[in-house]
Amino acid sequence: MSRTPRILIIDDEPLMRISISDALKADEYYVKETGLGRDGINLSSDNGFDIIITDLRLPDIDGIEVLKACKRQSPETMVILITAYGSVDTAVEAMKYGAYDYITKPFSMDELLLMVKRLIRLRDLEEENLMLKEQVEGRYNFDGIIGKSERMKAIFEKVKVVSQTDSTVLLLGESGTGKELIANAIHFNSSRKDGPFVKISCAAVPETLLEAELFGYERGAFTGAVKQKKGRFELAHRGTIFLDEIGEMSLSVQVKLLRVLQEKEFDRLGGTETLTADVRIICATQRDLKKEVQKGNFREDLYYRLNVVPITLPPLRERKDDILLLANHFLKYYTELYRKGAKNFSLEAKEALLKYPFPGNVRELENSVERAVVLGKGEDIQPWDLSEEMTGSLGGAIKAINNIQGHDNLSKALKEFEKQYITRVLEETKGNKSLAAKLLGVSRKTLWEKCKILEIIKNPDL
Ligand SMILES: Nc1ncnc2c1ncn2[C@@H]1O[C@H](COP(=O)(O)OP(=O)(O)OP(=O)(O)O)[C@@H](O)[C@H]1O
Ligand SMILES: [Mg+2]
Repeated sequence: MSRTPRILIIDDEPLMRISISDALKADEYYVKETGLGRDGINLSSDNGFDIIITDLRLPDIDGIEVLKACKRQSPETMVILITAYGSVDTAVEAMKYGAYDYITKPFSMDELLLMVKRLIRLRDLEEENLMLKEQVEGRYNFDGIIGKSERMKAIFEKVKVVSQTDSTVLLLGESGTGKELIANAIHFNSSRKDGPFVKISCAAVPETLLEAELFGYERGAFTGAVKQKKGRFELAHRGTIFLDEIGEMSLSVQVKLLRVLQEKEFDRLGGTETLTADVRIICATQRDLKKEVQKGNFREDLYYRLNVVPITLPPLRERKDDILLLANHFLKYYTELYRKGAKNFSLEAKEALLKYPFPGNVRELENSVERAVVLGKGEDIQPWDLSEEMTGSLGGAIKAINNIQGHDNLSKALKEFEKQYITRVLEETKGNKSLAAKLLGVSRKTLWEKCKILEIIKNPDL
């Protein structure tokens, strides 16, 4: 799922071993290999492989012993046996000891790859089922807010604590990270939950009207004020007010808000009576408010008054653990909403989801899944059902091929392709080599070597 599948190959025929290893590596699996059974058992105990592919006949011990030992060490590891024609009976016998399947020599690499793919899919489904079960049980679900990453779990804890107080909360984070969802959760988990929850977006209301909206007005306060109107603060009495996009509030309205915070009082526009309201304030913004203070767009005194309990929602790309959990949550929700049959994400779609940086965060993920549910043709959701951007890495590969000039021999062309592709991924990760290695499915060492050989970076400090 989120991790690269890990595979161990045990076969004493070097040519066979290397061909299998190369084919699997080309499919972005993590592969280790050895020619000896005992070595394989040791490697397996240290590495926790998802799949072990072992020949039945090995020079030191036979494949069945390897199977039994590996299964004892880690029962979840799935074992595929390679058998020579004629020893199929032994292989069938081996199924009793927990081998998943066997393949008879000679076989085509495609056949083996298909088997491996099927196994990985099985593992994913099992993990997914477990995840959904846990989700249903509410382990990763706090009031409809889904998350199992450490950062989201810490936020859930903070929300629980802060809900029990009347402190002002400032929600920060990029667009679509769930600020409004958190504001809801704070109100509905607080002692004010039976009181009003009043929302207003400071960006949606024109500056001249915002003050009137927030504090209300008396009849005749301005042209068009034909009767008295209560403001949002008054309406939120004994409840919570959620001031969304607070960074867009003009300096003149900021002064009035500061007064409410400091003195707990305000006037209706054109009014003479000073009013008070018992209101808990939650604010949200996508902006870096501290920077806005430095730029003179936001009052420093107001900033400190609002920044009592800041909660920063991390962008989705910084909590990859949540991506598939959220994707499955939305998949379930939208297949039910649109009355579609059960659907799954293909392996490729999952990989695309995990690689994509999600500039629009959870909202973008939700929209992509909804679109895929509505428009996707097959049973499995493919990257291209999700969005054009998520088909990206394949698109990038095609672009890189087109960029190769002239008619070099194959090995030269492949090298050029590798160079361009690695360069592009390094650009995408802004030079973060660990992340680039992860995305490319190679170790940091391999990336370092490739950078050196292909002269990508003159002096790579990995
Ligand atoms: N952790 C989450 N679990 C489930 N749904 C989520 C989560 N985070 C966000 N969403 C969903 O994503 C969408 C965007 O969330 P929300 O409106 O709270 O974001 P926001 O931070 O207020 O964005 P903006 O700054 O653009 O207003 C909503 O449909 C919300 O339900
Ligand atoms: Mg919002």
